[in-house]
Amino acid sequence: MDFPTKLNSLLARFEASLDSLVPALPATPAGPARIHAAMRHSLQAGGKRIRPLLALAAAGLGARTPEESFQLVASALPAAVALECIHTYSLIHDDLPCMDDDDLRRGRPTCHRAFDEATALLAGDALLTEAFVILATSYAGRSDIAAALVRVVADAASGLRLVGGQMQDLMAERRPGPGGLASTASAADLDFIHLNKTAAMLEASLMCGGLVGGLAPAELDTLRHAGRELGLAFQIVDDVLDATTDTATLGKTAGKDARAGKATYVSIHGITTAGRLAAERTEAALALLRSLPGDTAFLLELAGGMLVRRK
Ligand code: IPE
Ligand code: IPE
Ligand code: MG
Ligand code: MG
Ligand code: MG
Repeated sequence: MDFPTKLNSLLARFEASLDSLVPALPATPAGPARIHAAMRHSLQAGGKRIRPLLALAAAGLGARTPEESFQLVASALPAAVALECIHTYSLIHDDLPCMDDDDLRRGRPTCHRAFDEATALLAGDALLTEAFVILATSYAGRSDIAAALVRVVADAASGLRLVGGQMQDLMAERRPGPGGLASTASAADLDFIHLNKTAAMLEASLMCGGLVGGLAPAELDTLRHAGRELGLAFQIVDDVLDATTDTATLGKTAGKDARAGKATYVSIHGITTAGRLAAERTEAALALLRSLPGDTAFLLELAGGMLVRRK
C-alpha cells in the first residue's frame, strides 16, 4: 500500500472509531446535549490527527503480516481516540480568553466563541476525562496494557508535562512595562515549554502505539526519544507557520504569537535558525525510528512529512 492510501485508510478508521467512542448526541440518555455538542464541535472539526496517526503507525511496527497490522491498528484505535480527546481539550483551553484568546480553530470559531466560555471550559474538562473512560473501558480485558496506557497518557497530560508547559508558556509571555515588547524568556525556558506543552503528547502517542503493538522495553524507549525530537520539531514548525502562513491556510489566527509577545523559536532564534533546528530534530527522530524493527516505512514518511507541512 502506498503512503497516501495507507494514510487515508488509517484516517477513515480513526474517524469512525472517534465517532463511535465519544458520547453521541442522540444516544446520550440524559443531561444537556449542549456539552456533547461543544465537545464534538472541536473534536470533529478536522484536525490533522497527527497524534492518533503516530499511535496507529507505531502499533503497526509490531506486525509481521498485513493481517497482523490490521489487527494491531484496530487494537490501538481507542488509544488513538483518547490521545485526540486530550489534545482537543488542550486546544479548547489554549484558545480561552484567559490563555491565548483565539477566535478561530481548525477553521471554525473556537469552542468558547461557538458556545460560551463556561461551556468551553466544561467541554475541555469532559474531553480530558473521556480519554480515561475510553482507555479504561476499551482495554478492560487487558489490564496490564490498560494500566500502562493510562500511566503514559496521564504522565504526558500532567502538571509536569503538558499543563506545566502551558503554564510556563503563559508565564513567558511579554508583560506590559518599560522593558519593551519581547518576552524575556531564555532559550532554556523555551525548550522547557516546547518539550512539555507539545512534545510530551507526541512521545505518549508513539509510546501508546508501541505498547499496543507489543514492542520491547528498549524499543519503547527509542519511541519515547523519537517522540521528544519529533515533538520539539513539531512545535518549532508551529511557531514558524504562525509567523509565515496565512489564517485561511492555518485554520487558526496567523501572526498571533508576535502580537501576544510569546516566547517562540521565531522570537528567540529567528525564522532561519528555527527552520534549521526543526530539520535537525526531525533528522534525529528519523534516525531513531529507522533503528526500530518491523516495517517503519509508513512511520518514517509520516514523521518526515510533519516538518514540511503547510498547516
Ligand atoms: C496545535 O496542534 C497545537 C500544537 C501543539 C502545535 P496541531 O497542529 O496538531 O493541531 P490540529 O490537531 O491539527 O488542529
Ligand atoms: C499550544 O501551543 C500547545 C498546546 C498544548 C495546546 P500554541 O498555543 O502555539 O498552539 P496553537 O498555535 O494555538 O495551535
Ligand atoms: Mg498556547
Ligand atoms: Mg495557542
Ligand atoms: Mg502556535
